[in-house]
Amino acid sequence: MKTNSTVETVLARRSIRSFVDKPLPHDELETIAICAKHAPSANNRQEWMFFVIEDRNRTAKLAAVIGEAMGRATYDMYKPQALIMVAHKKDAPFGREDDGCAMENIMLAAQSFGIGSVWINQLQGLCEIPAVRAHLTELGVPEDYEVHGMAALGYAAKEPPELERTSPVIWIGSAPSA
Ligand SMILES: Cc1cc2nc3c(=O)[nH]c(=O)nc-3n(C[C@H](O)[C@H](O)[C@H](O)COP(=O)(O)O)c2cc1C
Repeated sequence: MKTNSTVETVLARRSIRSFVDKPLPHDELETIAICAKHAPSANNRQEWMFFVIEDRNRTAKLAAVIGEAMGRATYDMYKPQALIMVAHKKDAPFGREDDGCAMENIMLAAQSFGIGSVWINQLQGLCEIPAVRAHLTELGVPEDYEVHGMAALGYAAKEPPELERTSPVIWIGSAPSA
């Protein structure tokens, strides 16, 4: 397999669900946020906003609000060191797809700095619950934006388990090199 540092970053990324208590460099988070903004968006609409929460108390508060809405009192989003919420305009025709591109940029940029990440999906479908919306408003999310993806970030406390990649790749009209 031909490789380079970008490919190695892609192949090394795994979802991390347990973080050590060690702050993340602010300048690396800034770079990660810039990478989020550079993701492709349908028709270049860029109808998204990124919220970087570095304060663990605020992240814990958000997790508590989500947990309350889900009926899971102990929900903690894996207690990340930082969290990036990706919010898209509700009527953005490809908002979810755009989010996915930004989320992957965030997770790969994090990986390139040795920072672990995991997609947190729990806000999907909960944004219009009044207590959740009130909290999003407190964080600065406009009423006409919703959040589907959040990236929990931190240094991995342990290696993730092995994961076999099983999706077929069908080659048509050419043969893969060995
Ligand atoms: C759209 C989407 C939603 C996800 N939501 C969650 C989530 O809420 N919590 C979680 O622990 N992992 C979540 N994940 C991570 C997946 O479980 C993970 O990517 C998958 O198990 C493959 O493992 P890997 O990321 O280590 O390659 C999500 C991933 C995607 C793409």
